[in-house]
Amino acid sequence: MRRHELINRFVSLFDQPRYLEVGVEEGLTFKEIEADWRIGVVPHPHFEDDSFLGENFQIFRMPSDQYFADAVEIGLPFDVAFIDGLHTAEQTLRDFTNVLNFTKNDAVILIDDIRPANWVEALPLDLWVKVRPLAEGTYTGWTGDVFKLLYLIETFFPSIELRIPAEDPNLVICWKRTKSRPLAKPFAARLEEVAAAQYPQFLLSKANFAATGLESIVADYRQSRAEWAASGR
Ligand SMILES: C[S@@+](CC[C@H](N)C(=O)[O-])C[C@H]1O[C@@H](n2cnc3c(N)ncnc32)[C@H](O)[C@@H]1O
Repeated sequence: MRRHELINRFVSLFDQPRYLEVGVEEGLTFKEIEADWRIGVVPHPHFEDDSFLGENFQIFRMPSDQYFADAVEIGLPFDVAFIDGLHTAEQTLRDFTNVLNFTKNDAVILIDDIRPANWVEALPLDLWVKVRPLAEGTYTGWTGDVFKLLYLIETFFPSIELRIPAEDPNLVICWKRTKSRPLAKPFAARLEEVAAAQYPQFLLSKANFAATGLESIVADYRQSRAEWAASGR
């Protein structure tokens, strides 16, 4: 399943959806999103002329921190947000907390790059820039240590539901719960363990984050959305 198809599955559940994408690059996903209004944030887009992106959009040419500090419109929260900017755990965590602040109660938040394919892909930025040239083209992708968001959300954001879609297990799909979930999984990460985690720890913990079919995730999300509607909040 293509990335934009999966995102559009959630976009289609909203009336007049507002979409945010952090990290637009060439606009490959952004241009395919079927939302009434789209906002993209990227410091250095890989395009000059943005007319190929279609209609009803705005691109903010700046880092996400600056966007959320200076440019984001308060009072027009997003329905669907896709976080795919700088692939460090620190930046992605900050993007995630900012996105939580500027999305509706029943919003859907998707984070990319939570599934590194090998140990080089999973390195934090400072090590990756040193190691990658030495690997002589063997390793091309870079997810960074964004996989740590799984541990952080699972343990420290109990009001957030998180699911990994079998159709695209590089993503985690999140939404806000009306009540916190119990920490039911077999571990609760300690902060120092999260900080130190590298690819072996990702592999060892992978079974705790099993992927499930997209339609079952959509059904669970709709249930949560009905709870929000009933709560009146
Ligand atoms: C993997 S690409 C995004 C791909 C795009 N989302 C898609 O699906 O086609 C990552 C993008 O994040 C951008 N980026 C890096 N640091 C950023 C930051 N602090 N804020 C926003 N975007 C950032 C990069 O310049 C790059 O364009």
